[in-house]
Amino acid sequence: MLYRNILLFVTIAASVGATALPDLGLPVTTAPEPREVALGKKLFMDRRLSANGTLSCAMCHIPEQGFAQNQLATPVGFNGRTVKRNSPTLLNVAYRKVLFHDGREFTLANQVWSPLLSAREMGNVSIGAVIKRLQDLDDYETAFEAVFDEGISITTVGAALAAYENSLIAGGSPFDEWRFGKNTSAVTSDAKQGFSIFIRHGCSNCHTLSEEFAQFTDDKFYNTGIGFDRSMNVPIRETQLIRLSETVAIKTSQSFHAEHLNDLGRYEMTGKSSDKWKYRTPTLRNVALTAPYMHDGSISSLRQVVEFYMKGGIKNDGLDPRILPFTLNETEIKQLLSFLESLTSPYVEALVHDARDGGIGDY
Ligand code: HEC
Ligand code: HEC
Repeated sequence: MLYRNILLFVTIAASVGATALPDLGLPVTTAPEPREVALGKKLFMDRRLSANGTLSCAMCHIPEQGFAQNQLATPVGFNGRTVKRNSPTLLNVAYRKVLFHDGREFTLANQVWSPLLSAREMGNVSIGAVIKRLQDLDDYETAFEAVFDEGISITTVGAALAAYENSLIAGGSPFDEWRFGKNTSAVTSDAKQGFSIFIRHGCSNCHTLSEEFAQFTDDKFYNTGIGFDRSMNVPIRETQLIRLSETVAIKTSQSFHAEHLNDLGRYEMTGKSSDKWKYRTPTLRNVALTAPYMHDGSISSLRQVVEFYMKGGIKNDGLDPRILPFTLNETEIKQLLSFLESLTSPYVEALVHDARDGGIGDY
């Protein structure tokens, strides 16, 4: 059945005073079942889902930080262990054809078991252990039974979390209002010029859009040189106070070399040598909210990403032939940045508010 969650939409539209729909510029999706969304949100925010009760999904996909993590290139996971890649945004993840930077997973419902069971992320020893813990918590037994006949199971934990993730639709940006809503004053002339630069320099070969929609990704894999560079140069982290939620922050001790974890990208999934250091094209929707950038978080600002492309990426044998050096003057750089900033959805704020409006305690 195709329907919208009318109440949520009315609330969101009223709070941002917007005329566009959250999915303007995106294909219409089947809205997830609201009770499944509410249960999934509770799970998403709950630190008790990690083996020692310290880490929730929302601490690496932080709502206030674009459902990504702005302060760390790669997250700190279970017991302080290093996670090897940057936290991707979960905004619009409903539209991804493949999941993870290397595309090793395909459905949201299955994907959840990867962080839950990873020794570097939530540290659970088995699916059974997670299900048993949830069964032992009074608030989940009844909550699951109210939504799913079969109660708490491998399927329903995945389905609930996926329903919540599928509700994180954030289109209707100023760019969408201009291009798809035909509102010529929705963006500045700088942003319009920036869009022309984006097309002219071939960015849309990979960050694709069509006449009807703009995903700004083709969900395919390319070598831009970032992976190659990462393998050759181990980054140094400085001492930092890292905020993981409204109430929890950690301080990293001493400057330290992040533990060097080998990362060969898409090759790890396919075993094909031509896939070495290829990563999925990330969407550019809401990109202004999701610094730092690239699969390893190695680039800290959008301006530096633009400079990276102007230099033609990083040379290596597998560099994609479409990544070529080009020149922009200062005005053009600002225009390209204005365009990228026009991709921020006005609906994100309401999704953040909704994420924190559940009250499961100290999360
Ligand atoms: C310790 C930090 C951490 C925790 C906790 C965590 N994630 Fe992630 N998440 C990541 C990182 C890092 C990636 C990218 C990994 C990769 O590509 O190999 C990721 C990727 C994802 C993706 C794929 C997104 C995409 O664009 O392909 C989804 C979906 C996701 N996480 C959902 C969840 C859910 C649901 C939970 C809780 C059950 C969770 N994550 C817990 C760090 C975390
Ligand atoms: C050949 C395909 C390709 C082309 C052409 C391309 N990109 Fe990318 N882009 C990628 C891939 C792949 C990544 C991710 C690399 C990684 O994770 O290491 C990326 C990452 C980015 C990011 C970081 C997003 C994030 O969330 O981390 C931005 C911003 C970006 N590209 C903008 C551009 C712009 C602007 C252009 C044109 C000048 C462009 N891209 C051209 C494939 C491409």
